[in-house]
Order: sequence, then structure tokens, then C-alpha cells
Amino acid sequence: MYFLAFRQSIGYSYLWERPSLLSCLSARARTIRARRARIFGPMDRSARNWRLVPADERGIDAEESAADPFSPGLDFLSSVHVVRVRLDDTLADPIELLDDEERVRAARFVFDRDRRRFINAHAWVRVALGRCVGRAPESLRFASGGRGKPRLVGPGIDLRFNLSHAGERALIAITSGREVGVDIEKERPIEVFELARRFFSPPESSELQNIAASDQIPAFFRCWTRKEAFIKALGDGLAFPLDGFAVSLGNDGSSQLLRACSSAPDALQQWRVVSLPTEAGYVAAVAARAGDWRVVRWNATTRDV
Ligand SMILES: CC(C)(COP(=O)(O)OP(=O)(O)OC[C@H]1O[C@@H](n2cnc3c(N)ncnc32)[C@H](O)[C@@H]1OP(=O)(O)O)[C@@H](O)C(=O)NCCC(=O)NCCS
Repeated sequence: MYFLAFRQSIGYSYLWERPSLLSCLSARARTIRARRARIFGPMDRSARNWRLVPADERGIDAEESAADPFSPGLDFLSSVHVVRVRLDDTLADPIELLDDEERVRAARFVFDRDRRRFINAHAWVRVALGRCVGRAPESLRFASGGRGKPRLVGPGIDLRFNLSHAGERALIAITSGREVGVDIEKERPIEVFELARRFFSPPESSELQNIAASDQIPAFFRCWTRKEAFIKALGDGLAFPLDGFAVSLGNDGSSQLLRACSSAPDALQQWRVVSLPTEAGYVAAVAARAGDWRVVRWNATTRDV
């Protein structure tokens, strides 16, 4: 594993330290695209059946509509839009939408399955954000904060987003004027108490001890996703001490799940964490700066209308 990480980091820095090689690869990709366009005609991106349809609470498509309703007209100020993506849904040429940095990252994956998931997730981020700002997905540019949180560069509106992927699913949370974080996890057998001891705050660990054995794994992931959505909203990632704040573990539908925050005492007033009902086997949560926002859910689909 260490060898793999070492080899990947060498490959990564090798390319980035040689911009001439990178631009040569990009020029080559452009030449191949131009040649393909000469042979097959220009690619009509608008013909791609990539749609974002409203979803209900459980994530099921809520209504059938030929028109893609995900557009700049959406309410971003009082809503956090959460797009659910099936990463095993086949997009047409998703890599065409990515920039050089994303392509280099995609190339670093050892397994094709992980590469496909990364490419599809990033392509859908571009499709969704592109619809929000009325621009072509491939024209979007990103920068990242000190701890790697990506943000859109120069979209004209103050759009904030966050991505999370797990297994064959991804969630993209999008809003405006407030930071946002999202996390999705695939439920799996784990050593709940060992992990809780390492990562949870004392009140969370003791709440977990009192939960019925059959609900301990779901409760662990409810707690984990709520915590991770919060630290991703902050932009600090795992650099923020996970045991420095507490969330609830319950499944009671309460919307304020952040309970205490010794590492950031003002956080209780400033942030709201909401669990997202999702399909069986997955657990998810979203966090955003407090205010009167509601979650609006969407499904990304390539299904024919
Ligand atoms: C952010 C973090 C918690 C994500 O954990 P994860 O459960 O493995 O991954 P998720 O699928 O939920 O989220 C990954 C996505 O979050 C976003 N992201 C990356 N860094 C982020 C950060 N600091 N804050 C919020 N979101 C971040 C990216 O879009 C990323 O997608 P990508 O890897 O496909 O580009 C973890 O990677 C982390 O702690 N990063 C910070 C690392 C750090 O401190 N770096 C310091 C120097 S660079």
C-alpha cells in the first residue's frame, strides 16, 4: 500500500513538475478530439441525455418532466440543493468534460472501477454547476482552499458546493452565500466501538454504548456522516478535531444534529446539520451555515425521457 501511494505521488508530481509534458498531453488530447470531430462530425453536447430530475424524500424521482428543471432560475439563497448521482449510470464521454488536473488525478487510480467513479462524479459536478450558472460544464474552473476544499472560480454568482462519493453513489450539495458540506457513506461491517473510541467525542461514544446492538452500525454511520458533513462545510476536513464536537446519533428526524462544539464554540448558532434520508445501505448528511434553508433533492439521470 505504501509502495502504491509512493508510486502514485511520484507519478503525480512528475507530471506537475513538468508543465511542458502536461501541455503536450493536453495538446495531444485536443488533436485527437479535433480529428474525431472531422471524422464523426462535431460532438453535440446538448444531445447528451444528462438530466437532473426532482426527487422525493426517499430519493425516488418525484415527477416526470421532459424539460431539465435544474437551471439558473433555482432558488439557491434559501435552499441547499442535493443531487444524488448513480456512478454506475453510463455517461457519454464524461472525461471530455474534465480539465487536465482532473485527468491526471483520474489516471492515478489503480483500479478502473475507481477511475470510472471519479470521472463520473466530477463530470456530474460540472454538469450540475454548469446548469446553475448557465455555462458549459467543460468551461468551469476550480480552485481549492488550504485544505483542499474545491470552489468554483469566477461563476458570477456566489455559488458554493461540496461533493461526496461512496461505492456507486455520489452526492453533490449546492447552495449560494453559505458554506456547505456533504457526506455519504456505504454501510459496512466495522468495529464500531474501536472506531468510536478513536474518532468520536465522549458523549457520542457513550450514546453509542446505549444503542441496541442491531442499530449500532447504522448509528455509527449516522454520527460519522453528520460529523464529516460538518467538517467538510468548515473546509478543514479531518484536520479539524473530530472529538472536539458532538452530534446526535438518533434517527428521530430532528434537523439540528450538532449538539456541542468545544473546538468552535460559536458553531452551534452558526451551523445546521441535517441527515438525508437515502436508499438502503447508504447513510448521508449535509451541513451548511445556519439560516432559513431547506433541502431540495434531485436525481442525476441519463435515462431516456
Ligand atoms: C475532505 C475529507 C474529509 C474527505 O473525505 P472522504 O470521506 O474520503 O471523501 P468524500 O467522498 O466525502 O469527499 C471527497 C470530496 O470532498 C471534497 N474535498 C476535498 N477536500 C475537502 C475539504 N478540505 N473540505 C471539504 N471538502 C473537501 C472534494 O470534492 C473531494 O472529492 P475528490 O476527491 O473527488 O476531488 C478528507 O479528504 C480530508 O480530511 N481532507 C483534508 C486533507 C488535508 O487536511 N489536507 C491538507 C493539505 S492539502
